[in-house]
Amino acid sequence: MFKLDGVTRKFGLLTAVDGVTLDIPDGQMVGVIGRSGAGKSTLLRMLNRLVDPNGGRILFRDTEVSALSGSALRSWRRDCAMVFQQFNLVPRLDVVSNVLHGTLNARSTLSTVFNLFPKADILRAIDILERLGVAEHAMKRAEALSGGQQQRVAIARALMQSPKVLLADEPIASLDPLNAKIVMDALKDINEREGITVITNLHTLDTARTYCERIIGMSQGRVVFDGTANELTAEAVREIYGTDGEGNEISEAITSTSITARPMPAAVVSPSPAMLRTASASA
Ligand SMILES: Nc1ncnc2c1ncn2[C@@H]1O[C@H](COP(=O)(O)OP(=O)(O)OP(=O)(O)O)[C@@H](O)[C@H]1O
Ligand SMILES: [Mg+2]
Repeated sequence: MFKLDGVTRKFGLLTAVDGVTLDIPDGQMVGVIGRSGAGKSTLLRMLNRLVDPNGGRILFRDTEVSALSGSALRSWRRDCAMVFQQFNLVPRLDVVSNVLHGTLNARSTLSTVFNLFPKADILRAIDILERLGVAEHAMKRAEALSGGQQQRVAIARALMQSPKVLLADEPIASLDPLNAKIVMDALKDINEREGITVITNLHTLDTARTYCERIIGMSQGRVVFDGTANELTAEAVREIYGTDGEGNEISEAITSTSITARPMPAAVVSPSPAMLRTASASA
């Protein structure tokens, strides 16, 4: 169980996350949505302390995450794995070594320097790659894989840490719809089979609706919606996304990719995540 109590992060005069209070029970699959700059990444990064809060407290079970330092902080980062939009693999390194790097925090400096991995770890890495459907690429360089395959390798690396929580910051924003579906299905499967809490930032409402039992909507650093997909009414969507800056409401269709192949009017070009960012950044 995560408990966030008044969690705040300021950057200079800007309050990126503003007094967020939330309870997230173990095993939930949570989607965090909101327009660009709403504070989604900052919130996620505070959970594994890539960013330090400067107000409030974060607790996980009996541990005060926001107070950890040194080896306790390193241990927390193992428990709380993260995947990113840009995968963050080592491009020239082979896939299986990338996955084995998920155990690096737990290994001695000497074995790390000599790139010595225990056989049991190698077999486990291959098992995890198999489960994610990319074992056949185990010996290839990571850079030789498609985006969707690389993201599955990044998820394998995260699983190699045996995390208690999996954080994903827009894991499908760089992927085409088919690969986006494969990656979201993998996250859901991990959540359901291992009971690992998954908290993922998503740019698209339809993905959050399809995959997440709980949706948290952020606007200007605050939580403005917290509920199920069914409770996410047009009114709630308006509150989260506001208008496009010219008084026009941002409709659900415009925040949608086509994971669920939503038909669009002929004259409307489906906007890419990059276009959406630009649209909301200029709002
Ligand atoms: N390291 C930083 N230094 C200064 N300002 C920052 C920093 N990180 C984030 N911000 C600012 O904090 C606010 C929230 O940013 P954040 O990246 O959390 O938003 P986001 O909801 O993830 O947006 P996006 O959908 O574009 O990824 C933004 O105004 C951003 O410019
Ligand atoms: Mg972000």
